[in-house]
Amino acid sequence: MNIPSSMPPGVAFLSGQFTAENGIKKITRCGDLSGVFYDRAAWQAIPVDTPVYRVEMLRSPQGEGELFVGITHLQPGRVGDEFYMTRGHFHQRREQGEVYFGLRGTGLLLLQNEQGVARLEQISPGSVHIIPGFTAHRLINTGSEVLSALAVWPSVAGHDYAALAHGFALRVIEQDGKIQAKEVQHG
Ligand code: PA5
Ligand code: NI
Repeated sequence: MNIPSSMPPGVAFLSGQFTAENGIKKITRCGDLSGVFYDRAAWQAIPVDTPVYRVEMLRSPQGEGELFVGITHLQPGRVGDEFYMTRGHFHQRREQGEVYFGLRGTGLLLLQNEQGVARLEQISPGSVHIIPGFTAHRLINTGSEVLSALAVWPSVAGHDYAALAHGFALRVIEQDGKIQAKEVQHG
């Protein structure tokens, strides 16, 4: 090509990874997820350094109006009968939304509003998920391979994990060989 242009970062669809290697990477291990899975004994039986998910982020500007782009790679597996999942969060700036895009693997996106009403969207390669403002979100890997999803969100959004200290209103488990969603009664 003979016009001035540059090569942007890319996603390798087969591996679900960014092609650029100089991003920011964070691994979340089983030991980091205290209180996230309901079966505490099953959680304690898993070595603390077992990786559950990995996030890679592009280096991009921060500030009002700027966007972050990241890919989450969530391992397949279960703690007891509950599928591996991300911690999940509201945005600190509640009005800020986010878009998720399925890259590889299969699972569920758990969404929950501030009134505690939860719903699930199926995530698979190519699925597009619009997460509105005021909506908490968590990825759940119900498949047998790594679930990778690309996310785009405002850099000012921030993460609020504390607001969900008691967890989401739905848990996704395997029961009788089937994937089931169970409502949680908070006491
Ligand atoms: O911005 C997002 O919603 C994602 O990049 C998540 O931060 C990522 O999936 C990890 O999940 P959590 O932040 O809930 O640990
Ligand atoms: Ni988010």
